[in-house]
Amino acid sequence: MDFKTRHFIFGGDYNPEQWDDREDILEEDIRLMKKANINEVTLGVFAWAKEEPSEGQYDLSWLRKRVDILYENGIETILSTPSGARPHWLADKYPEVLRVDESRHKDLFGERHNHCYTSPVYREKVWQINHKLAEEFRHHPGIKAWHISNEYGGECHCPLCQQAFRNYLSEKFEGNIEKLNHAWWTAFWSKTYTSFDQIESPSSRGERSIFGLYLEWKRFVTKQTGEFIKNEKAAIRDAGAMQPVTINMMYEFDGLNYAKLTKYIDVASWDSYPEWFGHSDTDAALSHAMYHDFIRALKNKPFLLMESCPTATNWQPVSKLKKPGIVKAAGLSAVAHGADSVQYFQIRQGRGSFEKFHGAVIDHYGKEDTRVFREVSDTGSTLKDISKIAGAKTHAKVALIHDVENRWAMEKSAGPRNCGLGYYDAVMKAYKGIKAAGLDVDVVSMDHELSDYKLIVCPMLYMLRNGVEEKLRAHVKGGGILIMTYWSGIVDENDLCYLGGTPFGLMDVLGLRSEEIDSLTDEEENEMCPVSDNALGITKSYKARKLCDLVVLDTAKTLMEYGKDWYAKRPALCENDFGKGKAYYICADADEDFYLDVIPAITKRHRIKGLVSNLPKELDVCSREKDDTRYVFVSNFTGEEKKISLPKGAKVVLGNNDGVIDPISTLIFEESISSDS
Ligand code: GLA
Ligand code: ZN
Repeated sequence: MDFKTRHFIFGGDYNPEQWDDREDILEEDIRLMKKANINEVTLGVFAWAKEEPSEGQYDLSWLRKRVDILYENGIETILSTPSGARPHWLADKYPEVLRVDESRHKDLFGERHNHCYTSPVYREKVWQINHKLAEEFRHHPGIKAWHISNEYGGECHCPLCQQAFRNYLSEKFEGNIEKLNHAWWTAFWSKTYTSFDQIESPSSRGERSIFGLYLEWKRFVTKQTGEFIKNEKAAIRDAGAMQPVTINMMYEFDGLNYAKLTKYIDVASWDSYPEWFGHSDTDAALSHAMYHDFIRALKNKPFLLMESCPTATNWQPVSKLKKPGIVKAAGLSAVAHGADSVQYFQIRQGRGSFEKFHGAVIDHYGKEDTRVFREVSDTGSTLKDISKIAGAKTHAKVALIHDVENRWAMEKSAGPRNCGLGYYDAVMKAYKGIKAAGLDVDVVSMDHELSDYKLIVCPMLYMLRNGVEEKLRAHVKGGGILIMTYWSGIVDENDLCYLGGTPFGLMDVLGLRSEEIDSLTDEEENEMCPVSDNALGITKSYKARKLCDLVVLDTAKTLMEYGKDWYAKRPALCENDFGKGKAYYICADADEDFYLDVIPAITKRHRIKGLVSNLPKELDVCSREKDDTRYVFVSNFTGEEKKISLPKGAKVVLGNNDGVIDPISTLIFEESISSDS
């Protein structure tokens, strides 16, 4: 079931179950929503206690009434299944539904997201309520999509999960414990297993040094969550509801491998809450832009921005107000990166409990004459104006590999730098370099199809699995460009080190071998200095921190060298011709300015053309295509006016016709794709 929309979805979480003693509120909210250009609400995310007040006693009439009235008023519903928080009666009667933590303590009833994904009872109860909801709403024209549960995450170490884990391992290792012992290197510290029954999930009170066990546990948690989602979705489909299904994912969340969950859903969505403090607005926006590009690439099509905050959240270290303009610019940035919706948490602020001070479209004052309401309405009105762009797709020429299993393996291992390897930072710096080159980018796992990209960037690809080295080799051989960094090609999918030299399988592609890697303290730094007349025209030196790889060259050429320490003059940036393509190797953890200069120099050298020529610094440019038209979005999160030169024949869709982009605002222009040279 594909997700399609002819306009941008604009709305967010709405919790009428918190207001059921106030009939008047619904009417007032609808008036206000219409005024704010809201065309969607997400209902029922945490409404199980109201939908099934006691076991088997369902009451969906209140929900039906609201879905009906909202629809009559032009507001569609994304309907949630309620498994994110269970009613008291369920946990009281069936304690197995509650989680056991890694130290093997059972949680009490409370909070949300506290359930065992394995428990047959929980799966059954979720199936039943989902089925009821789907029976009720399967033919309702107002139901746009299903929002399964809420922000899946966390793990359970209960006996049911332990047994399921053992079954999973037994299947994976074909019932052969010797195979498992070998893959996990258990001869070390006498950890050899003699039976699958001995295996326990990792615990701070037990096993925590077998990284193969840790990796399989994380994979199992993802698999178990996937099966849970499958069960939720199957109930909906079984009841005959065919609307598209989504799950809302989270920023930088490494508890699950999202890439493995996408097969269960029809459209990807996520919740974006940038920290608009502690760094520049440009950086705040770009860090979430990277995640937009990650979420979009999961399904290679438009995604939904399921939640964002119309002003301050209540859970970040400081509850910073969004300054004027940010709400709209951040919403449009999501759209620029491929979102077909801008949704908020929440439409109406609750009166009590944990989220009473969380920003909302309608706050406790309850009326429309507020700054936040005005900015939200203005955003909705802009989305209406540009509705022809909804559904347009992104076609990126660049892939940036950001792989969560790689992160699990690298960050868990005791190795070259136990005070922080900086994987996410390395990915982010590479991302910023690609954006500085004015390019669209798909942020993808290493299992993603890579054959259509011109440039593949692999920061710290420590783990190589499923033959990714072969895909990278084929890419370069066929004329593609590869950028790889230090601490790559070190281990296989079990975290077993490759023998015979690293980066494994790519030494000839890169024309070098990594011989040793030096680790720097937080206070130390080295320098990366250009060699004269280097092919990239680099003239500046850059700082290097954290990790410095010492490579031995075969066919590679040196573009930059270390400036300090006993390895001064050894290569710090290399290039190598391989087949019809070229591979670059960045030897050290270079500062951001290196990436901002060097990635654009590489793309320029290989004629990978950005979307806007002479792009001013700090602007984020993205494109979406539909039919024969490309829509180019330029986001300016700086406090200064910027100007771009519009391509010949371009037509401004939003913003100033002369290419001037006001502080904290967005310019959109369209151009014909057939006019591409
Ligand atoms: C998450 C949840 C929401 C809400 C918001 C608050 O994203 O999904 O239910 O708690 O945070 O920011
Ligand atoms: Zn469990």
